[in-house]
Amino acid sequence: MNQSAPIGVFDSGIGGLTVVREILGHMPSEGVVYLGDTARVPYGIRSPETIKRYAREGIRFLLAEGIKFLVIACNTVSAVGLDDISSDIDVPVVGVLEPGAKAAAESTENGKVGVIGTAATIKSRSYIRAIRAFRGDVEVEARACPLFVPLVEEGWLDGEVPELAASKYLGGLKSKGIDTLVLGCTHYPLLKPVISRVMGPEVKLIDSAAETAREVSSQLAARGLESAGGKTPLRKFYVTDSPEGFTAVGERFLGAAIENIKKVQLEVIR
Ligand code: DGL
Repeated sequence: MNQSAPIGVFDSGIGGLTVVREILGHMPSEGVVYLGDTARVPYGIRSPETIKRYAREGIRFLLAEGIKFLVIACNTVSAVGLDDISSDIDVPVVGVLEPGAKAAAESTENGKVGVIGTAATIKSRSYIRAIRAFRGDVEVEARACPLFVPLVEEGWLDGEVPELAASKYLGGLKSKGIDTLVLGCTHYPLLKPVISRVMGPEVKLIDSAAETAREVSSQLAARGLESAGGKTPLRKFYVTDSPEGFTAVGERFLGAAIENIKKVQLEVIR
């Protein structure tokens, strides 16, 4: 495997840039190739079969870019079928679910953890299984928060609309007495201030994006795949729909300018 090859990051759309931001924060000398399937986002309302088919098409594209490591930044894809999807891939693969689940199991003191995500993520029960695999006595309460994704895409990160949505979605979780809440969706880290206000300062928020970046960093080191640095690292962004909207909102997710961006058409897998 080539150490100077980039890391591939796949997401259903724009939200995976929160994961790229963390990766670049932890490993600035790594190259990154990102693919956001913006023409077909959201995945979170679709069936597991469709989500897996779309993900396979995106991953095949990224593998053809010569990546050394694949990050599935989309919680929905990680939740419904990471094992199925990654079984025949010849580069190491990390999803966002396991790192977030592990951090939650380690963080909770009272053994009560909440998880929020898309409808497909919550329906899969994957977070519940993953958290209990790390710590069997943890009670996990999971809730789908479907309006959070469009709110973030619209840039409504603060104010009365997200506050009201958060109160409605999270009120039940709060009354269960959880002390840890997993933000199980790429978009939710951008709503952290609102979510934190609703849940109160005693509830610890677990950001899967940050946990995943730490996991990628340690796996690259363990496999001897870290970039040696030297030349300017690659930053390449692919989308399946018009780049315009992606660039404007994406720069907020990434916290940096998006320059090298291109629209592509994915090869359909039947
Ligand atoms: N990327 C998705 C996730 O993290 C959110 C957007 C979607 O539904 O596709 O679950």
